[in-house]
Amino acid sequence: MLFLFAVLGCLVASSVRDVTAGRAFTERDLTRHIFADYEKVVRPVSHPENTITVAASISPISIRELDPKSQVLVMDTFMKMKWNDDFLKWDPTEFNNISVLQLPNSLVWKPDLSVYTATPDDALFPTSNTNVLVYSDGTVLWVPFYTIKSRCPLLKRQEKNYFECVIKIGSWTYSGKLLNPQLYTPEVDISDFDDSNPDWKLVSVKSDRQSKFYPCCPGEDYPVLHFNVTLKRRWPSMSIHNEI
Ligand SMILES: *[C@@H]1O[C@H](CO)[C@@H](O)[C@H](O)[C@H]1NC(C)=O
Ligand SMILES: *[C@@H]1O[C@H](CO)[C@@H](O)[C@H](O)[C@H]1NC(C)=O
Repeated sequence: MLFLFAVLGCLVASSVRDVTAGRAFTERDLTRHIFADYEKVVRPVSHPENTITVAASISPISIRELDPKSQVLVMDTFMKMKWNDDFLKWDPTEFNNISVLQLPNSLVWKPDLSVYTATPDDALFPTSNTNVLVYSDGTVLWVPFYTIKSRCPLLKRQEKNYFECVIKIGSWTYSGKLLNPQLYTPEVDISDFDDSNPDWKLVSVKSDRQSKFYPCCPGEDYPVLHFNVTLKRRWPSMSIHNEI
């Protein structure tokens, strides 16, 4: 009997020790810990007046199509977004030095950044199922592949054989006080661009951020990111203006 108590005592002691020290915490334990009380449908801020800043940008991959007649540009891109989630933080020293988790994007809150200039028949938001990276300081990085189909009204000042398309990106529902989009970097990253479209050559992609105010909500800023894509016809033929 005494022997049995001794064994039980050892078992209890060792399982307590497992939880409190020395145990190899896994990604599974960490995920259960951070998602135990997580709510993904609302902004992950610890105070309602906090702003979520989202660093965002698009990196062009290829020009699929530009139809000057219908004035629609179809471009493959990576859309890069980074923000901080107050509720996805942990101390790596408590979790075996795990400092990053790769998780399905459907598990976490995501900013509703959309392409305002998207054609109505097309996805306003990226739909690809790529994982997010979640870092222990709450940083979330999401880089979905996104084929943007954008309306490009021909600009009056358009030069012959050039086409400029302004892709506008901003939150669909949040004002700048709640969700503040910023350019990820001052320069657009075109290092992954495949310049193989037979008709159009990419000349430049320039970006900036502007404030937009709507009559409904005076004083409420809805910031917009612009990505101005300039393309040049490879085989100068007729003027774009003549075709339309
Ligand atoms: C965690 O990292 C620190 C610093 O590099 C190291 O001293 C410690 O042994 C690591 N702990 C584990 C459980 O790997
Ligand atoms: C992009 O185009 C918009 C609309 O024409 C313009 O307001 C903005 O200044 C342009 N931005 C850059 C960086 O060229």
